[in-house]
Amino acid sequence: MSIFLSKKEERILNGEEGEILQKCYRLLVQLGEAFGADRLIPIKSVHLSGISYQSIGDSGLEFLEEISHQVKFKVRTTLNPCGMDLRQWRAVGIDESFAEKQFRILRALKTMGAVMTLTCTPYYLAPPKYGDHLSWAESSAVCYVNSVLGARTNREGALSALASAIAGVTPNFGAHKEEGRKPELLVKVKAKLKSVSDYSALGFIVGTQAGNRIPFFKGLKAGAEEMKAIAASLATAGSIPMFHVEGLTPEWKKQKIVGLEKLEIDLRDIHRIYDEFEGGEGEAVFIGCPHLSVKELHELCLKKPKMKTFVCAARGLSPSLFRCLRRSGFIVLHDMCPVVSPLSKKYSKLVVDSFKAAHYLGERGVLKKREELVE
Ligand code: F3S
Repeated sequence: MSIFLSKKEERILNGEEGEILQKCYRLLVQLGEAFGADRLIPIKSVHLSGISYQSIGDSGLEFLEEISHQVKFKVRTTLNPCGMDLRQWRAVGIDESFAEKQFRILRALKTMGAVMTLTCTPYYLAPPKYGDHLSWAESSAVCYVNSVLGARTNREGALSALASAIAGVTPNFGAHKEEGRKPELLVKVKAKLKSVSDYSALGFIVGTQAGNRIPFFKGLKAGAEEMKAIAASLATAGSIPMFHVEGLTPEWKKQKIVGLEKLEIDLRDIHRIYDEFEGGEGEAVFIGCPHLSVKELHELCLKKPKMKTFVCAARGLSPSLFRCLRRSGFIVLHDMCPVVSPLSKKYSKLVVDSFKAAHYLGERGVLKKREELVE
């Protein structure tokens, strides 16, 4: 199916407004045609992933530097975590050559107009509104803003999000449309979940079985932090853009669940997945996948770490809570994520409370409930 293009868009595709914009439009049009989009639609914001030097290396760095003096981002463009804390990289043992290249990547993005959020929870700093069309990479954030805030974005890759940041548009398909937000799997939760890690476990189990089908949860009690944990692991184990929860998420009432395939999750399923990720003891703890909310920071402030514990949250969130956590003995880091940082390689085993982090750390990840990691 071919996509409708305005006269202006056709001129851009013909290269009349420069080669880079032409390439961005070409990529977005091809993506749209592959997925049956009818047109390109304007977006309110972009969230870029793939900005750690560890992930994109010299070729990614050189590419960003090359385009950085030729184009500007058309919409608000925020950044996912990079490979290090921009102020404390030396203190935690990141080497000079990595830091130098990481700073060059960030300078290139800033030149194009990126907002230096460096967090996977940019919605805590500036939440998108219900119905806003976005082009976000970072699957956990995509799943959260679609499900909990009612914004609309597909799971973009690093390149399609970059193209949208430059073009200011995205192809209209998938989660941008009503039919792309319908549930295809009914999940009955028969377990009483207590820890935020239990919700992460639930998301991982359902994600594994759902594939790319949007789940509708029944019998689930969850606050915003628990839904963030579900979003992260659901989108890791499956390629799911969103979920609905009866009585909780903003679009649940519109959905039809009669005739959907059913899945039941009980406490035995939750215990089983913990057993699968059981990895013994670790050398340090990482809490903050996805980056923590103000409420979570506040709760942690009342605790003490049992061992060397890194806590990660967006830099701009709450300086007073960060000070409080440091006084309690936590090492507070910003701007980074252990999965894309050389920091985690310094430990042969890192304890985490999130199934997403444990999944990506592989052999080096040890999973424990958050409550077991603090006193
Ligand atoms: Fe965020 Fe990294 Fe986890 S980007 S969601 S802390 S794997």
